[in-house]
This record gives sequence, structure tokens and C-alpha cells, in this order.
Amino acid sequence: MLKSLQSMGSIYSTAVIRSSQPNLLLRIGANSVTPYSAAAATGSSIDGIKDIVAVASGKGGVGKSTTAVNLAVALAKKFHLKVGLLDADIYGPSIPTMMNLHAKPEVSKEMKMVPLENYGVHCMSMGFLVDEDAPIVWRGPMVMSAIEKLTRGVAWGSLDILLVDMPPGTGDTQLSISQRLKLSGALIVSTPQDIALIDARRGANMFLKVEVPVRTSFFACFI
Ligand SMILES: Nc1ncnc2c1ncn2[C@@H]1O[C@H](COP(=O)(O)OP(=O)(O)OP(=O)(O)O)[C@@H](O)[C@H]1O
Ligand SMILES: [Mg+2]
Repeated sequence: MLKSLQSMGSIYSTAVIRSSQPNLLLRIGANSVTPYSAAAATGSSIDGIKDIVAVASGKGGVGKSTTAVNLAVALAKKFHLKVGLLDADIYGPSIPTMMNLHAKPEVSKEMKMVPLENYGVHCMSMGFLVDEDAPIVWRGPMVMSAIEKLTRGVAWGSLDILLVDMPPGTGDTQLSISQRLKLSGALIVSTPQDIALIDARRGANMFLKVEVPVRTSFFACFI
């Protein structure tokens, strides 16, 4: 992941924030990404999934989806973990393009959607369900309902980790995911500009507001 990010050649800052439980979730160092089992704070877990981690930022366009995709592929390929990637960006899903997945999900006997797989990562996105150019003009409750279907309405199977690519901002979707899912932690992505960092702090503080105890456990700057 680090190589992928570095090879893109611009400056990105990333802080890993996690629950205050003693068991650290992810430590991203200069040469490695080390996964740990982690406990969670609020919400309920999804059957078969050990850890759920949100990739978030208050700011848009700072590289959340890029980081989520690179991290997911690195954890699957390099660390041989069973990895899921949920695109929680209902209005602007990026995962179908970034993961090169364009089919419609099948439905299992249990009437759950079967995630699409590429590069060893099991993916689910609103983008699989609607045409690429179709605008999604929904109010909050419909978005909540879509998030519920994209999380618990999916046959994820057993996963070591589910990464959630969050939409920008600190609105309904972010709150809903933080409260409904048992998050093990969150990866806050930002660019180094003051304006971006202000929003990133807001994003981190949102996790505190919804009683996910967080503290900065690692800060990395990719140049
Ligand atoms: N490290 C990087 N260096 C240079 N460009 C990057 C880097 N990471 C991402 N980008 C580019 O920045 C743009 C935005 O990235 P991305 O879609 O991942 O951001 P995002 O935070 O998910 O955006 P949104 O808030 O709209 O969901 C993309 O064109 C992507 O290719
Ligand atoms: Mg995105």
C-alpha cells in the first residue's frame, strides 16, 4: 500500500485512529502494515466479520477511496487476509471503477447479495446496482436503508476485516455507520493543507461524538 501511495507522487498525510481498547487494530509503518485483532465500541457486528474499519475524512477528494482500495488489496495479497470492501458512498461510488468490477451481484439462497471479487477482495457498492451515469437522488432515510442492505444484506462470508470506504463529510451516512456497525477503528485520510486538516479533525471528532473512543495511534506522511 505504501509503495502504491508513494508511487502516486504527491503529498498525503494519514493518521490511524482507533478505539481506546488495548488491542491495537492496524499499525502502518514505513515498511509494513500489521493487522491486529481489535475490539469495538458501539453498534453491532456483522456475522462472520472479525473487524470493521472505516476509511474516512471530513473532507472530500483527499484519497479515501484510493487508500481503502490499496489497503484492501495489500491486506488480501500481502497478508493473505480475507478482506471485504464496502463502498458506503451512495451518491458517488468509486469502488466499481477502482476495483474494475462492473457486474451486478447475484442473490444467494438466503436472499443476500453476493459480493463481487477482484484482486482477492470481496466488494459491495451501490455502483453495482445502478447504471454508471444514473444520478442517485435520495433523501436521508433511503440512504440509511441502502446502507443497511449493503452491510447486513450481503453474504460476506467469513472475513478478517471489512474496510468501509466512507463518503465525505460528517452527515447521516457517517453517523449511521458509526452507530449501527461495531467499528474496530477508523483510518482518517487527509491532505496536508490547513483547510483539509480542519475537516479531517471534524471527521475524527465525529467518531468521538458517537461515543467511539478514539485516540491517534499513528501518523504517517507520504511524500
Ligand atoms: N496519493 C495520491 N497522490 C496523488 N493523487 C491521488 C492520491 N490519492 C488519490 N489521488 C487522486 O485524487 C483523486 C481523489 O481520490 P479519491 O477518489 O480516492 O478521494 P476520495 O477522498 O475518496 O474522494 P470523495 O470524497 O469524492 O469520495 C483521484 O483522482 C485519485 O486518483
Ligand atoms: Mg471516495
